[in-house]
Amino acid sequence: MIDVHCHILPDIDDGASDFDESLEMANIASKDGICKIIATPHIYDGKYAIGDIIKRVDYLNRLLKENSIPVIVYPGAEVSIGLDPGMIPKYTLNHTKYTLVEFPHNHLPSFSGKILAWLISNGLKPIIAHPERNYTIIRSPESLLNLLDKNIYVQITAGSLTGDFGVDIQYCAKFLVDSGKVDMIASDAHSKEFRKPVLKEAAEAAAILVGRKASQRLVSTNPAAILAGEEIH
Ligand SMILES: [Fe+2]
Repeated sequence: MIDVHCHILPDIDDGASDFDESLEMANIASKDGICKIIATPHIYDGKYAIGDIIKRVDYLNRLLKENSIPVIVYPGAEVSIGLDPGMIPKYTLNHTKYTLVEFPHNHLPSFSGKILAWLISNGLKPIIAHPERNYTIIRSPESLLNLLDKNIYVQITAGSLTGDFGVDIQYCAKFLVDSGKVDMIASDAHSKEFRKPVLKEAAEAAAILVGRKASQRLVSTNPAAILAGEEIH
């Protein structure tokens, strides 16, 4: 499996506290069946450049090799929808056109559609991070469906499907998977304890809803296409 959303890098956001924890997170991921991780620190402003992320990814990959942990980490970011749109293209997933975009949890900004359209018109492929955890979308999933078009992708959090965030979010996650609106499940892990970097249990929950083949697309096939910069079908 491939995890496309994980706060495994230290010293940038509220993810891993240091590289020791990054290694422990990678170890947990590996034991769960994850072999590749895209590091996606929160980017709210221009304080950290993509070069800062790449440096940490390179260093972590060296440590993973030295410690014989069979996981490869790739550079990426989780950009805020409030970030200056002109900066967003600098922070894509593994140097592709895919970019992971985060909404605030408590509402859906009225300018969201305009920003997504602007990103698409500039050649990017926006992926909406965990919409099932947004209060507006929980209350009214149509507000997400109205935003989507064929160039916009949806990633939900593994723990949402398995009930870690409560029944409302679990219901919304299941509704979106069942409706065929979800393209990826990712851990959004922040530490070795809080929201761990695991996907297997959520993949099994998705398989109950949509079957094993479709579930595999969410944790393996589509994430592999993202890493390679290929089309998601
Ligand atoms: Fe995240």
